[in-house]
Amino acid sequence: MRFVLPASLAFALVIAAASSPLHAGQSAAAQAPVTFAKDVAPILQKNCQACHRPGSIAPMSLLTYEEARPWARAIRQQVVQRVMPPWYIDKNVGVQHFSNDRSLTDQEIDILARWVDAGAPLGNPADMPPPRHFPPEDTWQIGEPDVIVTLPKDVIVKAQAPDQWPDILVDPGLKEDRYIKGVQIIPTKGFTVVHHIRTSIVEPTDVTRGSGQTDDVDAIEVGEQGVFLNEYAIGKQGDVFPEGSGRLIKAGTKINFQLHLHSSGKETPANVALGLTFHPPGYVPRHVISSMTVSAPQVDLRPHTDNIRSDGYKVLARAARLLSFQPHMHNRGKAECLEAIYPNGRAEILSCAKFRFNWHINYVYADEVAPLLPKGTVLHAIMWHDNTAKNPFNPDPDAQITYGQRTVDEMSSAWLSWYYMSDEDYQREVEERRARRTRLTSTR
Ligand code: HEC
Repeated sequence: MRFVLPASLAFALVIAAASSPLHAGQSAAAQAPVTFAKDVAPILQKNCQACHRPGSIAPMSLLTYEEARPWARAIRQQVVQRVMPPWYIDKNVGVQHFSNDRSLTDQEIDILARWVDAGAPLGNPADMPPPRHFPPEDTWQIGEPDVIVTLPKDVIVKAQAPDQWPDILVDPGLKEDRYIKGVQIIPTKGFTVVHHIRTSIVEPTDVTRGSGQTDDVDAIEVGEQGVFLNEYAIGKQGDVFPEGSGRLIKAGTKINFQLHLHSSGKETPANVALGLTFHPPGYVPRHVISSMTVSAPQVDLRPHTDNIRSDGYKVLARAARLLSFQPHMHNRGKAECLEAIYPNGRAEILSCAKFRFNWHINYVYADEVAPLLPKGTVLHAIMWHDNTAKNPFNPDPDAQITYGQRTVDEMSSAWLSWYYMSDEDYQREVEERRARRTRLTSTR
């Protein structure tokens, strides 16, 4: 016979556990009741509302208690599993400071979980922080652009349809080489359906061009191509490159827009604008920023197989400062790490991140910890795919998948931004960091 614990007894056990001496030892702060008004609202304002507010991309608003309360269970589940907010860096290994970090601290997760466990109370409405003000998404944070590139025609997003990932190539008609100082993307139409946008620059030699089609103003569909320029995600302002640095854009370069569009229940035309500010003509920045991919040469995913690993390598011809890391895979991507193998043979993991196909996140290293890599360093990207039915983004676990451009094919890459520096600059920066670290410890 199966033993069934009576519900009343189970309840009594829970009560007993809650008042055990273990808990009595905890600080008063840890015991204080958690309320929405005092503890939860500030976290939602800081980490969630950029997306979870009316007219933004998330499925529900989390501005008020009335709106958040019905989602309490889901909020607990998603934050405890670190699915929300979308930020998938492994917190146990590698560099931990990013300039665009939107993750929650362990303490914040604990507050949200305890609020839900306590029955998700409102608390005293007088404790509510004033509502957060969000700047309109359509203002230029980088200053007035020198060039604005838009899609030649709106993309129509149907009321109900699977997500679309169109690639649209646009020729901005650049007549001279210039160095970019700042870059920003804003959705000019259909803000609610634009999940994210990635732009890349396609230099004139990158494209095989037939005769007479170079001046074609109509957008043409292309595969993934070019090198990463920047990315738009909700709540992200433009990028202004650090003093003395810039990115070269050559005459004749085209811009590839990769859009991730998500139906909102209403047919919506969407368009976006890419704004570029330039350094003065003739100015050559000391640090020229560039992007590269470190990719596995082959991807071979057998059906119903998990943790399929692939590796890519790239040798740095000169010393470099790594600025950002973005895992790039398709539906079956699972996780990715980036390792530096130094010329002396020592290897170090720089970053690891889980991968969820819904979110393409560019992790931008904070200035003071952006990896400084000596000449001859081998960058080693390690990717894992999951081709089983357990992966919610897998459309067909029976299929054998290989490398390819389409979303149904696979990729296995790290997108990296970096700039080269002279060996002297490298030495100087390494020394400066060492000195800063010494100062920090000696003043404590
Ligand atoms: C960058 C935008 C963004 C941020 C920031 C964000 N979310 Fe989300 N959230 C979304 C989107 C979009 C979805 C829909 C699912 C998806 O695309 O992953 C979602 C889904 C959810 C869901 C699941 C809803 C359902 O249908 O079950 C919960 C719960 C949630 N978010 C809570 C939060 C909380 C709590 C925070 C802050 C701690 C947060 N989110 C921060 C964009 C965001």
